Parts: sequence; C-alpha cells; structure tokens
Amino acid sequence: MSAANTGKQRAAAAALAEVERGSVIGVGTGSTVNFFIDALAAERDLVRAAVSSSEASTARLRSHGIEVMDLNHAGSLDLYVDGADEATRDRYLVKGGGAALTREKIVAAASRRFVCIVDDSKLVDVLGRFPLPIEVIPMARSYVARELVARGGQPVWRENCTTDNGNQILDVHGLVILDPPSLERDLNQIAGVVTVGLFAQRPADLLVIGNENGVTVV
Ligand code: 5RP
Repeated sequence: MSAANTGKQRAAAAALAEVERGSVIGVGTGSTVNFFIDALAAERDLVRAAVSSSEASTARLRSHGIEVMDLNHAGSLDLYVDGADEATRDRYLVKGGGAALTREKIVAAASRRFVCIVDDSKLVDVLGRFPLPIEVIPMARSYVARELVARGGQPVWRENCTTDNGNQILDVHGLVILDPPSLERDLNQIAGVVTVGLFAQRPADLLVIGNENGVTVV
C-alpha cells in the first residue's frame, strides 16, 4: 500500500474511537472515507445507521449492510466523519475534489462534531494549492467564472462532471487563501453559487492526520 493510503487508513481507523455505539452518524465521501466505511463495517453494530453525503458512499455503506437514512428523518447528528483535499492546523478545509461538497456541507452543518480524516500530504500552511471547487447552477457557470476572475482566480470548468444535485463544478486555481472565513463569505454571495468548497465558517472540530508511523490529532 502507498504511504498516502496507509496514512488514510490509519486516520480512518482512529476516527472509529469517536463513534458512540448505537448512534446515527454522518459519513462523507472519498477514498479516505471509504477506509472509514470499511472499518465501520468490521465493527459489527457500532452504528445504528448513517446519513451519507453522496450516492457513492450510500452504495458502499449499503453494500456493507449499514442502513442509510435521509437527513430529514435523522434530526441532528452527533458526529460527521469526512476527508478533505487540503487542511490547515486551524482546521480550515478545502473540500469537493470528489464533487460531493454541497451534501458534505449540509451534513457537517447538521452535526455537532465534525471529525476530518486526512493523510499528512493534505496538510498545508495556506489553503489554495489544491484548486478550490465551487458548485454552480449550470446556467450561471460563465457568470460565476467571470466573478471569480475579477477576484484573482482562474476557474476551470470540470467538464463531464455533474454533481449528485444536477449542478456543475468550477475548480478555481491560483488563489492564496489567507483569510478562509472571509473568502468563503464573499464567494457565497455570488449569484448562482450553490456551495463553496471552503469549510472555514464551520471548520472541522478535530483533524486526524495519518502517516506511515501513526496519527496526530489537531
Ligand atoms: C469529496 C471530498 C473528499 O473529502 C476529498 O476529495 C478527499 O478525498 P480523498 O479522501 O479521496 O483524498 O471533499 O467531495
């Protein structure tokens, strides 16, 4: 297994300790979360059910026999576990590499605690090296792109990608995100933006960073 995958698997396994037996938890999307789902399945009956942030995670959870609930029926959740494309030690995140950012932001918002699991290659001092994903209403794509250029970004349309919500993604290159909460607030105001892949106004509560030797918790 690659060093990155070992780090992902270790972080995922460590997050199991945060799960309260018999609870309904939120589950994110991506290869790190896949390790978490597999670890969850190995601990029989640890969770009662899960609220999933994507069709892909729903399929994986169900393939392990874990019940998936609609968020509208689950009420508020105690815990949400998800990965990230970039993370700072302040627990600000860039997410959306897997195009699931909108549902991820909703489930994170509905959860009391957000535990983010990453391998150590995701840790950065300043967000922006990974292009910032922004989900947009299809008819607003060009307008939003012009607004992003006016703010110093270089948006690239993620072609052949339709989100689970029927929308499109712009990946914004060239941003140096020195003040994540204020950039998130600003980009949220652009008409046609559905979700900005910055998780700063609601950062992770715990960042579990895995590497070949073990895990560090921030
Ligand atoms: C999906 C996400 C993922 O959390 C992010 O892309 C990290 O994925 P991986 O664990 O595969 O590196 O935000 O929208």
